[in-house]
Amino acid sequence: MDIIIRDSPQAVGAAVADRIDAVIRAAQGAPLTLGLATGSSPEPAYEELIRRFQEQGLSFAHCQAFLLDEYVGLSADHEQSYAATIRRMFTRHVDIDDAKVHSPQGDAQDPEQEVRRYDAAISDAGGVDVQILGIGRNGHIAFNEPTGSLASRTHVQVLAQSTVEANARFFASEDEVPSHAMSQGLGTIMEARKIVLVALGEDKAEAVKELVEGAVSARWPGTILQHHPDVTVVVDEAAASLLELRDFYATLERDRQDRQAELSAPAH
Ligand code: F6R
Repeated sequence: MDIIIRDSPQAVGAAVADRIDAVIRAAQGAPLTLGLATGSSPEPAYEELIRRFQEQGLSFAHCQAFLLDEYVGLSADHEQSYAATIRRMFTRHVDIDDAKVHSPQGDAQDPEQEVRRYDAAISDAGGVDVQILGIGRNGHIAFNEPTGSLASRTHVQVLAQSTVEANARFFASEDEVPSHAMSQGLGTIMEARKIVLVALGEDKAEAVKELVEGAVSARWPGTILQHHPDVTVVVDEAAASLLELRDFYATLERDRQDRQAELSAPAH
């Protein structure tokens, strides 16, 4: 894992945006599949990507997108559905075709059939090229709560009480937070070719410590990412505060930057 620690949400957002921007520009207009997370953590990154679209010609016209998850029971036009949230936060401000922003249908009549359809739709689209992730306080990624299978596919997930409490801030009361979600599985997420995980704030510090330095375990679902060959974790100082090897991560980042500079230096 590449670990990047920055001193503000804006700097974290810029570091995440750099990575997404690089993948988009490298594709040179060829079709590309983005994996998008909702929640608060990626907001500064989406703001930065919108700015680069507006000011630097970064185009999403050749992209399609798959969301990680959706609440069971909410239709796409419900204000707090993730389908509506990602449009408000990001996609409607850039030039991606709205019909190509995919999410599980939260109000599908048969949720079990819908999760199978969604998992197959991601594969049929050729898989995700670059996936943005957040992480929950309990270590969940997407809505893969502790003790689920580390190889799971897209499934209907019972939300942990801590997740319901954390997400109550988006609803009028805790009672209105749906009890179930449809979530890409850990096995599904692990198939993304590149992953960028973002975490902000002290209440993520324990989850980030386990994610980066803990043992791989179903207790902390995000730890499965240690088995992925291309993961970047971008965090602020508060979320990094429990990491033991911070100096080493800074050394590794300087080394990557030096090698990058050598690669881009003109040949003599
Ligand atoms: C959202 C998602 C969740 C969030 C996580 C962190 O699509 O899949 O895993 O990324 O709950 O949420 P925030 O960023 O709001 O702290």
